[in-house]
Amino acid sequence: MEILLCNGYDEISEKAAAILADTVKENPAAVLGMATGSTPEGMYKRLIERYEAGTLDFSAVETFNLDEYYPLAAENEQSYHYYMNEKLFKHINVKPERIHILNGEAKDADAECKAYSNAIAAAGGIDLQILGIGENGHIGFNEPGEYLHADVHKTALTESTVNANARFFATRDEVPRYALTVGIGDILRAKKILLLASGKAKANAIRALLDDRITTSLPASLLKTHPNVVLICDRAAFGEE
Ligand code: F6R
Repeated sequence: MEILLCNGYDEISEKAAAILADTVKENPAAVLGMATGSTPEGMYKRLIERYEAGTLDFSAVETFNLDEYYPLAAENEQSYHYYMNEKLFKHINVKPERIHILNGEAKDADAECKAYSNAIAAAGGIDLQILGIGENGHIGFNEPGEYLHADVHKTALTESTVNANARFFATRDEVPRYALTVGIGDILRAKKILLLASGKAKANAIRALLDDRITTSLPASLLKTHPNVVLICDRAAFGEE
């Protein structure tokens, strides 16, 4: 795993945006795996700036988001559909039909997951996967546990994740208790992975990620089996502050 140690959040955002922009310049039809949450927001801002400056064209890219709460309507302001539209998609020229996000209102969650897997395969797989990391070491909504799932699936959120994400909702009770998420196998099939981590709250997860063990109790540790992962983190997440 390559590590890019940064002096703060802005540097993380700039480095991540630069790598994503280079990927799209090299391959205008790149398939991008997108993440939500606080961490990638700065990267998305910088991508919008590049688009507005005319240096980046998203017209041929295809995107697949990692996950979506379940059940939750796309119009709900806490949904990842809403987030992606507000933070990135409505500001750039990505084609709506090339945007894929799991449907948090699907009646048949299993069928929705299967269709999403098929769509990723039909696109030729993910070229660049953006990831954040949970305080508990989750990636996507692959939560720590006795076992992990390889494929797109419905999952229960852990208490730790419900607590961490309650900050986005009016009350903790409003946080959906389930999500649809790509699996660890889907993530590991990406050609390249960028893992972004900022702040002290992530230091325990990053410390555990950087020792030699691989365990389902730290889902991000599976990334150590992938040949092309770049960890972009600040000193606080690295445990130096
Ligand atoms: C988001 C996702 C999650 C987040 C993680 C970190 O699509 O899949 O794994 O990346 O929970 O969230 P933040 O960035 O808010 O700390």
